[in-house]
Amino acid sequence: MKLPFFSKKQAAVSDLFLNETIPEHVAIIMDGNGRWAKKRGMPRIAGHKEGISTVVKIVKTAVKWKVKVLTLYTFSTENWKRPKTEVEFILRLPKEFLSIYLPDLIASNVRIELIGDIEKLPAHTREAVEDAIERTRDNDGLLLNFALNYGSRQEILHAMKEIFLDINNDEFSLQELDEQKFSDYLYTAGMKEPDLLIRTGGEKRISNFLLWQLAYTEFWFTDVLWPDFSEKEFLYALEDFCKRKRRYGGL
Ligand code: FPP
Repeated sequence: MKLPFFSKKQAAVSDLFLNETIPEHVAIIMDGNGRWAKKRGMPRIAGHKEGISTVVKIVKTAVKWKVKVLTLYTFSTENWKRPKTEVEFILRLPKEFLSIYLPDLIASNVRIELIGDIEKLPAHTREAVEDAIERTRDNDGLLLNFALNYGSRQEILHAMKEIFLDINNDEFSLQELDEQKFSDYLYTAGMKEPDLLIRTGGEKRISNFLLWQLAYTEFWFTDVLWPDFSEKEFLYALEDFCKRKRRYGGL
């Protein structure tokens, strides 16, 4: 029963993409790693490790379909509350991922960026990502944006403090502060706001992710756990996005 449905759906995806708009910026909350591992009688960290394979698949698909920005919620400011061993494991993954895949990413013209409070990350995490940012800075294909030690409230407060200092130093006046200027102080400065937010793992919440930037973003929730999220699932989300009418508060 399932196979014909899938192939029909896939054909529909390719037809549709010929005519419709692919989201330029896709942001993903990669949830469900722990449950994926527990279901298999494995420790939670095995789910995070498996999650890397999904990242590889989704990045490849994003490159293939010419998505411009892919933002991945990799470690939040709240994730520090997890057991130390899990935190340390997750924060080792960026280096592990980049040590294997950076050459492929460079060959695919991918540029790496990071949003979040980089100062509080362990040196090995920070250095691996900074090295990747440096080595991919001239690439103009997919922007692969890791949200690491990222929390939207922290980002907004950080922006407010910087704005306050700059106004105090007469860089600009309070009257000149508008939405665009405020956006320029966020970690995402210069990036288009997400067109599509995907959350895997069944929960339907934002979890302190891109609160300002998601004002007019389309949401896609799926019960599929991140390690099981496939190219096909990703294409369903893109296809669904293509069918939506965005009105931005207008008619
Ligand atoms: C949330 O699932 C996932 C995380 C906090 C970590 C995300 C990290 C990865 C997917 C690894 C990829 C990293 C790189 C750098 C490529 P959860 O642990 O909350 O799952 P649960 O809801 O089932 O407990």
